[in-house]
Amino acid sequence: MDALENGGLSPESIDAAFDEIRKDDLDWSAGRCFAYVFSAGEDVGAVAKRAYTAFMTENALDPTSFPSLVRMENEVVQIAAELAHGDAAVGNFTSGGTESILLAVKTARDHGRAERGIERANIVVPDSVHPAFHKAAHYFGLDVTSVPVRKDFRADPAAMAAAIDENTVLVVGSAPSYAQGVIDPIPELAAAAADRGTLMHVDACVGGFFLPFLEQAGHAVPAFDFRVPGVTSMSLDLHKHGYCPKGASIVMYSDPDLRRYQLFSHTRWAGYGITNATVQSSRGGASVAAAWAVLRYIGADRYRKLQTEVRACVLDLCNGVNAIDGLHVLGEPDGSLLAFSSDSLDVFSLVDAMREKKWYIQPQFGHDHVPKSVHLTVTPINVPHRDAFLADLAQCVAELRVSTSQDSPPADPMAAMAAAFVSGQLSIPDAVSAIGADPARTAGDSAAINRVLDALPAEHAEAVLREYFHQMYASS
Ligand SMILES: Cc1ncc(COP(=O)(O)O)c(C=O)c1O
Repeated sequence: MDALENGGLSPESIDAAFDEIRKDDLDWSAGRCFAYVFSAGEDVGAVAKRAYTAFMTENALDPTSFPSLVRMENEVVQIAAELAHGDAAVGNFTSGGTESILLAVKTARDHGRAERGIERANIVVPDSVHPAFHKAAHYFGLDVTSVPVRKDFRADPAAMAAAIDENTVLVVGSAPSYAQGVIDPIPELAAAAADRGTLMHVDACVGGFFLPFLEQAGHAVPAFDFRVPGVTSMSLDLHKHGYCPKGASIVMYSDPDLRRYQLFSHTRWAGYGITNATVQSSRGGASVAAAWAVLRYIGADRYRKLQTEVRACVLDLCNGVNAIDGLHVLGEPDGSLLAFSSDSLDVFSLVDAMREKKWYIQPQFGHDHVPKSVHLTVTPINVPHRDAFLADLAQCVAELRVSTSQDSPPADPMAAMAAAFVSGQLSIPDAVSAIGADPARTAGDSAAINRVLDALPAEHAEAVLREYFHQMYASS
């Protein structure tokens, strides 16, 4: 074998290899990365690591063999249920927001099938909803009715109500949405769902461990949880504002009977009787142990403090961004996320300019009436850097104003180029150089690619992205 050494490596050479392997990764620990990583500090990381390694070998595949894992899972769900005011709520620990959402959609489909005789189910979502709902529908054979959001980027309850039909098994709202960080009008959406006898899911993957502590600290938080009549399920991510290691989320149901539609069991083989509560079968104990430990270690007081500091930082960033000539925040963010756009500058070039200054901010495509924008997820590790961030942002805006043309290349050549890429005639580096970027400077030259993707019809952009990933995950 060439790919695997016969003799194996020493632990020291593995450490050294890691240093080399990760040299191009985002340096999240410097607090200059506004996406992907939720860190509450080194001490929390150290507690998580100890707990993670303590249970990395146990397997929740058979909970009767490892009651420790059931106990920790139930205790973590109990904490989430209390935060969400789900007095009778039951739930499960999953690998992340997407798995929680997959399960909530599958549960709604099976509930609709069993209780309402629905053969081909649909879900009604605002078009700001996380793609995990589209993925769930794609995986499990449901249709999606995607309803445009209002001008304030929140779901439109009247339009959502009008979109519900006799095959609707689930209505969805976000608390908050990822892209603009606003909370949908959950009470109105839940009332419309209840009116039509359908289930209602609140995607609180981002807000589930953030908003309750903010409310407890005295902030006004729009109603979004199980206190709202008609809300039947929720997803809450521990690996976001719970500050637990990745691979940690919770899906919960207000009515315990609903959870029965989530479970899977199989005895029709000559093996052991399999019953799975979630998508995974073999399931390591590491994530649940780490989540259990981090929640308990941080404790409610520190969560309240952390989330209050993050919220104050978000408000300062919003004010700071709005004060920069040419930039404006989209809507009124309700939690820890925000997005800003520009009428006069190419925000994708701004992302690259900030990258040159070692900041990572996330480019977002435009959709319907929502312009292309820049997204920031704010976590405790970012808080001390807000002034430095705003100063560099203002400087980049000033520099871009004098240095770049605002014109995007025309759409048709880009479509032709993307089609050539999909058919294998053009590589991404060639595509990038064809529109004037330098393929050698990969980290800083995303603007040209993003302009192409933003301008393409969605199905074309999606095909390009799939092809790009197909090529990326190739053995070298
Ligand atoms: C609102 C929302 N829902 C769901 C998800 C999916 O979570 P995950 O990436 O953990 O699967 C995300 C991720 O950012 C999110 O922001």
